[in-house]
Amino acid sequence: MSLQKTLSIIKPDAYKAGHTNAINSMIENAGLIIVKKKELQLTKEQAQKFYSVHSEKPFYDELCDFMISGPIIVQMLEGKDAINLYRKVMGATNPEEAEENTIRKKFANSIQENAVHGSDSEENAVKELEFFFNEN
Ligand code: CMP
Repeated sequence: MSLQKTLSIIKPDAYKAGHTNAINSMIENAGLIIVKKKELQLTKEQAQKFYSVHSEKPFYDELCDFMISGPIIVQMLEGKDAINLYRKVMGATNPEEAEENTIRKKFANSIQENAVHGSDSEENAVKELEFFFNEN
């Protein structure tokens, strides 16, 4: 399996609740390395651009408002098969469907306030890392 990089976001709900360190321990215990990390507050325009793939979805406006509701942590993760591995560590988008011992099972409040984001493909990992770090 190849060495990959992927984007991780700790969303406003998890940041506000103080789950950042616990989430990052789960990430590192899975064998992923947090190569870069920064805290920021998205503007509405940035949130709309980042989630533009969902612009036709009924939850788009609410999702963008949620993502600007407080600070977030964006991180570059690296490891073998990092994209799929991190998705396993996160668990399903809907916490009700997430497996035990996943980040979303433990920390997500709802399908929208679901604690974390992770890139879903190599193509999107490149785009999303570029978006926040201007590199991949
Ligand atoms: P994320 O992995 O960041 O990718 C898109 C986000 O949209 C997702 O996590 C959720 O926060 C949100 N989302 C997906 N489906 C729904 C839904 N049915 N209702 C509300 N929010 C959703």
